[in-house]
Parts: sequence; structure tokens; C-alpha cells
Amino acid sequence: MANMSKPGSHTLKVYEANGGYRALRKAIREMTPDQVTDTVKQSGLRGRGGAGFPTGLKWTFLPKNHPGPIYMCINADESEPGTFNNRYLMELDPHQVIEGIILSCYATKAVTAYLYIRVEYPLSRKRLQSAIDECYAAGLLGKNILGSQFSLDIYIHVGAAAYICGEETGLIESLEGKRAWPRIKPPFPAVEGLFRKPTIVNNIETLCCVPHIIKRGKEWFQSIGVPPDPNNPRDMGSYGPKLYCISGHVNKPCCVELPLGVTARELIDKHGGGVWKGRQAKAVVPGGISMGFFSAAELDTPLDFNGPGKVGCLGLGTAAVVVIDDQTNMVDVLYNCCRFMSHESCGQCTPCREGTNWMTRILDRIRSGNGRTEDLNLLVEVAASMGIIPGTTICGLSDGAAWPVKNAIAKFRGDFETYINEGRRTRSKADELMAVH
Ligand SMILES: Cc1cc2nc3c(=O)[nH]c(=O)nc-3n(C[C@H](O)[C@H](O)[C@H](O)COP(=O)(O)O)c2cc1C
Ligand code: SF4
Repeated sequence: MANMSKPGSHTLKVYEANGGYRALRKAIREMTPDQVTDTVKQSGLRGRGGAGFPTGLKWTFLPKNHPGPIYMCINADESEPGTFNNRYLMELDPHQVIEGIILSCYATKAVTAYLYIRVEYPLSRKRLQSAIDECYAAGLLGKNILGSQFSLDIYIHVGAAAYICGEETGLIESLEGKRAWPRIKPPFPAVEGLFRKPTIVNNIETLCCVPHIIKRGKEWFQSIGVPPDPNNPRDMGSYGPKLYCISGHVNKPCCVELPLGVTARELIDKHGGGVWKGRQAKAVVPGGISMGFFSAAELDTPLDFNGPGKVGCLGLGTAAVVVIDDQTNMVDVLYNCCRFMSHESCGQCTPCREGTNWMTRILDRIRSGNGRTEDLNLLVEVAASMGIIPGTTICGLSDGAAWPVKNAIAKFRGDFETYINEGRRTRSKADELMAVH
């Protein structure tokens, strides 16, 4: 985020004056595409879009010496609730995004890049388009970039802003002009993606790390963050900086850049100005609502790729922290999460389409004062039956719908029981109008 506070940070002049496009010049003049891929792989960079998949490794899944085109899709759908870090990058440092895209296309030999952005981000789109135009005029995009054999075109595609358009194969379907129904994998996009050609999908923040890795080296990247947990053979470490979003019941909602591995408590107290109105946090969403919840006792959990899983959350997700204060009712919070997921489910898989709707209806019944304590086990049973993890759905939206339910009932069961036993009601007339079922 170093450039963002500088006046005119979105222009080519200011970006270049602060070292911009030096990594690209270095890569094109001194490195082969495979060397760029190797450097990114060895840096340990993992995707910032939610799944945390190793970026360089993903690039190596592309077929070698592919005779046809390879495509790069840049995921700027930013659809996970609570997440707004991509927006900062696109609005305030669009050339950093473009340099990351050009470098990644050079590494993967992609000939065309499609930047998929949601319609609700008009300033991001405007700034990216003018950055692209500046790059064409300066010979940084188009034919024979910087006099090399490497050519690249970037197109911006505006999506209508559905959550499922952020899922990589839903995004590809949408780019092809179809309904954003995720595809069954395999084949993975690296083998058969956009227009059935090998395709890499990466998040905006992931790509913004690439110029820094090329310019400063993999050792520099690994000097930030957390090494692999020796007790977890599957942990690949959490290296590099991360843009953490902090919102909800805090005094100062913001987006901050910090080394991976800070705790939720540090984010809330030091950067978010503490919980608002002098209250305490009851629950915290660690990485977008699809990751589940931390309880107040879990706020010292490190927000790296390994930490949230240790306390029963789905993962780090987008590292978007949403704070829920102690005056807030978890029944209402969970109802909101389920209503969102039910509305956003694309409907292809029965467990997701029906399950998200059933969970919303059960919670709505509880909020109408007609809940039964056995509803809590029913909610857990429905949640356990849906998702890639139990193997019943095509994409991860379903796991992201199940996790808040599993976590909320496991960690805040007392709140739910008290609510039901006291016959409380929080369903309003407005909720009736908004009900999706
Ligand atoms: C329902 C759903 C929504 C998603 N939304 C986004 C999104 O808005 N932005 C994003 O980068 N990744 C999103 N993802 C993850 C993408 O499928 C994919 O893993 C990611 O774009 C890969 O980029 P990365 O490796 O650079 O993180 C979503 C996944 C699911 C299941
Ligand atoms: S899991 Fe849900 S959102 Fe994903 S493909 Fe199936 S129905 Fe659609």
C-alpha cells in the first residue's frame, strides 16, 4: 500500500517515479518465463482470493508447449461479504495491479488477460481502464512489449455482481456470456478453462505481490509472515504481506497491510480503534462470512492460512475481519448469513439449493418466536450434509454456507437456547418483505 497515500497514485507518472514497472523491465530483459514462475513458486506466495492455493504451483499446471492460446482471468469480483482490499488496490494503485498482470502473463505465456470486475466498482473500473490506456501508449501493453517478443492485451469485463461470479469457473462461464454456473472439476481451468483453453484465474491482491517478489526476491517475501507449522505436514507456510479488512462494530473500519499472522485482537484494538461504544466483541468473522466465527476467547488466533482452521473455522478466506459486539444477537447474525447464501446459491446442486433455503427458514422460524431446541441439531445436520468437504456439491459456496451455521451453533449454542426458551422474537415486517423463501 506504500504508493496509495501519494497524490496522483493512480497515474503512470507517479507509479514509475516510485519504482513502478522496474520488475517488468527486469523480468523481460533478464528472466525467462519459467524463471519468473520458479521465483514466484519458491517465494511461497499463496492465493489471496480465499482458497490460499500456491500461485506458482498453479501456473505449472498449464500444459507445456501448448500450441493454442493461454488465457489469464483476473478475479476482481470481490464478492465475499466484508472484503474490500481489492478495491483499494484498483482505485489507488491500478498500475501495481496492471504490472502484476503483465508479469503473470509473461510467466504463464498468456496472450490475453480478462479482468472480471463487479459493476458496483465504477471508480476501480475507470482507474484501471485509464491505467491500461496509459500502458498501451507507453509500449507496456500491446504488441512487442518494451521491444520484446512478448505481446499482451488486457480487456475489462463488467459482471453484474453475484457472489457466484467470484468462484473461478462461475467467473469463466459468465465471461463466456453464460449464466455463472460453476463447472465440475476436473478438468481444472489450467487444463480447460476460458473458451475451453488453458486458463489461470488469480485474485487482484495475489497478482499485486508478483512485482515485489520479482524486484526484491523470494527471500525478501519469505522474511515476512509465518513459516510452515512443523506440526502440520500440509501447511505450506503463510508468507508475505496481507491486506486485512476490518469492519462491523469497530470504531475505525479500515484496510491495513500487515505481515500474515497478526491476531484478530491486534487488528481490532490497534488498527480498528477497538470495539465501538465501549463494548466487547462477542464474535468475529475471521475471513469473510463463509469462514465461520471466532468466539471472544479465540481472538488471539493468528490470521494466517493455518490459524483459523485450528479453532474450527473453514480457513483464512479473504482475511476480512467483521466484528460483532456483545449486544448483538447471534440468531439474527446467522439468519443474515444464511439468507445471503440462499439468495446467492446458483441452484445447480440440490444440497446447496435446498439446504441454504431450509437453514434460512429454520432460523426465520426461530426469529418468529416458534423455534424448538431440536431445531439446533437440525441446522447442524443440514449444514453437515452440504459442500465439497462432504462431497455433495460442485463448488465451495455450499461449504461457506455451512460453516457459519456449524460454528455458530457449536460456539454460541447457549445464546440460541436462551433465545428459543425465552420465546424471543426479532423478525420484523421488513424481514417478511425481504424473505427469500
Ligand atoms: C462462492 C465463491 C466466491 C468466490 N469469490 C471470489 C472473489 O470474489 N474473488 C476471488 O479472488 N476469489 C473468489 N473465490 C475463489 C476463486 O474461486 C479462486 O479460488 C480465486 O479467484 C483464485 O485466485 P487466487 O489463487 O489468486 O486466490 C470464490 C470462491 C467461491 C467458492
Ligand atoms: S454448491 Fe451451490 S453455488 Fe456451488 S454450484 Fe452447487 S448450487 Fe451452485
